[in-house]
This record gives sequence, structure tokens and C-alpha cells, in this order.
Amino acid sequence: MENATIKSFKLRGTRITAAQTAAREQLWPRYGVPYAEKLVLLTNLFPENSRFVMEIGFGMGEATIEIAKSHPETGFLAVDVHQPGIGKLLSLAHENELTNIRVMDEDAHLILKNMIPHDCLDSVHLFFPDPWPKTRHHKRRIVNAGFIDLVHEKLKPGGTIHIATDWVPYAKWIEERFALTSKFLGGIVNRPDWRPLTRFGGQGIRKDHEVTDFSYAKI
Ligand SMILES: C[S@@+](CC[C@H](N)C(=O)[O-])C[C@H]1O[C@@H](n2cnc3c(N)ncnc32)[C@H](O)[C@@H]1O
Repeated sequence: MENATIKSFKLRGTRITAAQTAAREQLWPRYGVPYAEKLVLLTNLFPENSRFVMEIGFGMGEATIEIAKSHPETGFLAVDVHQPGIGKLLSLAHENELTNIRVMDEDAHLILKNMIPHDCLDSVHLFFPDPWPKTRHHKRRIVNAGFIDLVHEKLKPGGTIHIATDWVPYAKWIEERFALTSKFLGGIVNRPDWRPLTRFGGQGIRKDHEVTDFSYAKI
């Protein structure tokens, strides 16, 4: 977080469907975690789980649901600010009767900083973060020195951050940012079996698309 006022997201003109609005109203009390400047115990949020993952920027939640379904032992704290996506993820969690997902609607920086205790996450998932391709927007890229330090504080020792991007210049940027820190070990990996192909990661939405996966472990 080089500058807390620069956001890594832009709230888009949100066309939210009636079903997404209804899900938001009806299912938020069950799955939603309201933002507060107060630490939250993950063992309280996920009493049935022994591992904890925070996903930052789940979009429409396609990957989130698949991963949560195949990892019932893990509690997933799914974070985004995109209203249609929040509605969609809430409906999918309900349809799939998942008990290992909780959803938050706030800037991930604030949640990490103010709500997540140190050394408590097994993993952070960051799939296809907004690439902010224009040079004047690079300051909005979520992967920066401040973010790397913040994630480091919150991961358990040996915990990992997994990142995927389909924007080659951003892949280079991510590699460079992690090369500057001695707090993590890792680099480019093959797509892990557990990360499903989604809109971004599947048949490319960009012609020249090439997906790079990274895994870095906290030292
Ligand atoms: C390009 S989309 C990718 C969505 C999804 N991960 C996928 O693979 O389809 C990036 C998402 O990250 C969210 N986002 C960006 N910065 C964020 C932040 N600081 N806190 C929470 N969500 C954020 C955006 O709202 C957007 O939904």
C-alpha cells in the first residue's frame, strides 16, 4: 500500500441483476462478514475448518466456488467490491450448500490491515488482478511493495500467495516486485490442478493471452 488513497479497483457502473440483488439481501446475513476495524478470529468465522485462505478480487466467483467445493477442510474468505459478483457468489455458495465460504465487501487492503490477525492465513489467492496497462495507472496495481509486506504479515510461516495473470507485462512486474523482497521464496509455477480455468484463465478473452501462475512462500 504505497498510498492508501490510490485504489487498485474502479467501481464500474454496476449493472446488477434482480437475482443478484435478491441474493445480496437474502444471503448476506448468512455468508457476509461486515467490515469493522476490529480483528476477526478465523477459527470463529470457520469453526469447521482447519485451514484458511483469503481470496482477493473473486470477480464473479467462478474459481472461488470450484476451489471451495473441492477443499471442504479449508475456509475461504472471499473479498471483492464488485456488487454483481458479490450477489453471484452468494447465490452460488447457497446453491452448492457450501459452509466453508464467507464473503466480504471492502478493499482487501483495509481488511488485511484491520481485521486479519498476523500469521493466520495458510494462503492468499489473487487470480487475474486488474492489470492497469497504462503507465499512468501502474500505481494502481495491487502487487506492490506495501501489499507484499502486508500479505507477508498475515500469512503463517510457510504460507503461500498464489497469483495468476494473463497480462504478460504484469507477470514481469510481479516477478520484479517479488525479486526485490527477501521475505518470500518462489516464482513461476505450472497452473496448479486446483485452480480451475475461468473466463480469464480459460480460452483467452485476449488473442495474445498467455497465463502465468506464481507461487511464493513466506520465509
Ligand atoms: C480483473 S477482475 C478478476 C476477477 C476474478 N479473480 C477472475 O479471475 O475472474 C479483478 C477483481 O479484483 C477486484 N479488486 C481489485 N482490487 C481490489 C481490492 N483492493 N479489494 C478487493 N477487491 C479488489 C475487482 O473489483 C475485480 O472484481
